[in-house]
Amino acid sequence: MERNAPCWCGSGKKYKKCHMPIEEQMRIHADRGEIVPTRSLLKTPHQIEKIKESAALNTAVLDAVAEKICIGMSTAEIDQIVYDFTTKHGGIPAPLNYEGFPKSVCTSLNNEVCHGIPDKDIILKEGDIINVDVSTILDGYFSDASRMFTMGNISDRAKRIVKVTEECVARGLAAAKPWGHLGDIAYAINSHAQANGYSVVEDIGGHGIGLEFHEDPFVSYVTPKGSEMLLVPGMMFTIEPMINEGSPDFFVDEDNGWTVYTMDDGLSAQIEYMVLVTENGIEILTK
Ligand code: MF3
Ligand code: CO
Repeated sequence: MERNAPCWCGSGKKYKKCHMPIEEQMRIHADRGEIVPTRSLLKTPHQIEKIKESAALNTAVLDAVAEKICIGMSTAEIDQIVYDFTTKHGGIPAPLNYEGFPKSVCTSLNNEVCHGIPDKDIILKEGDIINVDVSTILDGYFSDASRMFTMGNISDRAKRIVKVTEECVARGLAAAKPWGHLGDIAYAINSHAQANGYSVVEDIGGHGIGLEFHEDPFVSYVTPKGSEMLLVPGMMFTIEPMINEGSPDFFVDEDNGWTVYTMDDGLSAQIEYMVLVTENGIEILTK
């Protein structure tokens, strides 16, 4: 691009005052053999604004779930809350019909790792831990986040895995910095999980997000520090490690083709945030 031309991102600034220094920096890393994002993975100011609106609705949906979720409720009722709240506010639940997923939200209990399907016969009971994973499309822009909810008195085992998962994600967020690497986040998460005797699921991870539900890059939480894609301002992706009590191995429900369970029947917990890499750090777009 010509240095004095308006930047491709639509900021209205000249290229030399906008993305030129970023792309020069990317080139230096690429020349060292590092994995750098393509320009298409760097969100423009307009896209960022729109994706933030989607993320705000996604947070409001999770808040609506948080307000009502309780012992005795079925996971189908959680699905109904998500569907009603999202559509009432002009959004579309991204999971609904996504690759054949039949419901509006993923609800994963106890030994379920992820992708649990809401069901009228799955009733929340005292001692359960549940991940509610909400994803929203608003005006064609995508957002994604999940929280853990605990039902009444839970065991010390359950308390500990939820607490350590929160700590893992907090450490992952703290390790995410422009001009660092995805592997820095993975290392922060994996090392803390391991120090607590837990494991991190390897083959299911996070993803780029915003213009589509799942964009590049795939985000692993088990890769070494300094490895994987360079973190460049404008990138957007999820931090959503799945932490298992025992082995990281899992299997997928043969009947419904979706629900992922721990192989050893141990507990699993997950928390998901969506983040934007900025010039100074990261911005967390969901709660
Ligand atoms: N929210 C999940 C994720 O983080 C979505 C899984 S696809 C679905 O990628 F169809 F199950 F929703
Ligand atoms: Co996700």
